[in-house]
Amino acid sequence: MTAQTATTPKPAMLPDAQTVTEVRHWTDRLFSFRVTRPQSLRFRSGEFVMIGLLGDNGKPLLRAYSIASPSWDEELEFYSIKVPDGPLTSRLQHIQPGDQIILRPKPVGTLVHDALLPGKRIWFFATGTGFAPFASLLRDPETYERYDQVIVTHTCRELAELEYGRQLVAALKDDPLIGELVGDKLHYYPTTTREDSPRMGRITTLLQDGTVFRDLGIDGIKPETDRAMVCGSLAFNKDIKALMEGFGLREGANSDPAEYVVEKAFVD
Ligand code: A2P
Repeated sequence: MTAQTATTPKPAMLPDAQTVTEVRHWTDRLFSFRVTRPQSLRFRSGEFVMIGLLGDNGKPLLRAYSIASPSWDEELEFYSIKVPDGPLTSRLQHIQPGDQIILRPKPVGTLVHDALLPGKRIWFFATGTGFAPFASLLRDPETYERYDQVIVTHTCRELAELEYGRQLVAALKDDPLIGELVGDKLHYYPTTTREDSPRMGRITTLLQDGTVFRDLGIDGIKPETDRAMVCGSLAFNKDIKALMEGFGLREGANSDPAEYVVEKAFVD
């Protein structure tokens, strides 16, 4: 009887545990990390999953996080804000390689190619950590197979907050897997609002006054040719939504594809 007790496996400490493989701190407010990928996890680039840690009460403390890595990657990458008194991120920001996190392998989301009708040009509009789903989509061959032009705008308060996205975009052209596909299709349009940089201002303002179109040599956003995905704060999403509707684009969903889709950048 004692033998049986000894061989009975204990319940796992962490259900759906994955191991942290890499952590990078970009600013005192931003970090990215990579974890092992459950073998059975299939997802579409742009989707999100619930991840987290065990809370003090022993229950999982989970938040929605966009997967920042492409669907072909062996590992999963996430890009996160650090909120000093945030229940999850105040602790998550201290993870180290070898630590375990909880990951519920049920990907969902609307920032997926399937939710858009075919078009010629796709716009990815992001603020802050809203860049995460686009970090996935920008590394997905399907993005370049579907569109002739891919424009990614990223608005942050300061230059250092653009760095994760800037490095990712810079590496794409030399990427052995998709570099050739990317070719000259990709246009990166970073802006800052609270620190001097080559391009200043909220992207919403720059769309309204036509600066973006002049800079890129494009004659506007049209429902016949343009598609958009939007990810940022609630206020940002609302403002971009109004702009897209003004250009004549309609909001799409997985079940009803149209011309643009929106998702909130979750953890704040
Ligand atoms: P701003 O500095 O003018 O508020 P945050 O760090 O607060 O999440 O903001 C990230 C970036 O998004 C900031 O550059 C911020 O500009 C910008 N932003 C916030 N709200 C909006 C909005 N409604 N429309 C456009 N840009 C926005």
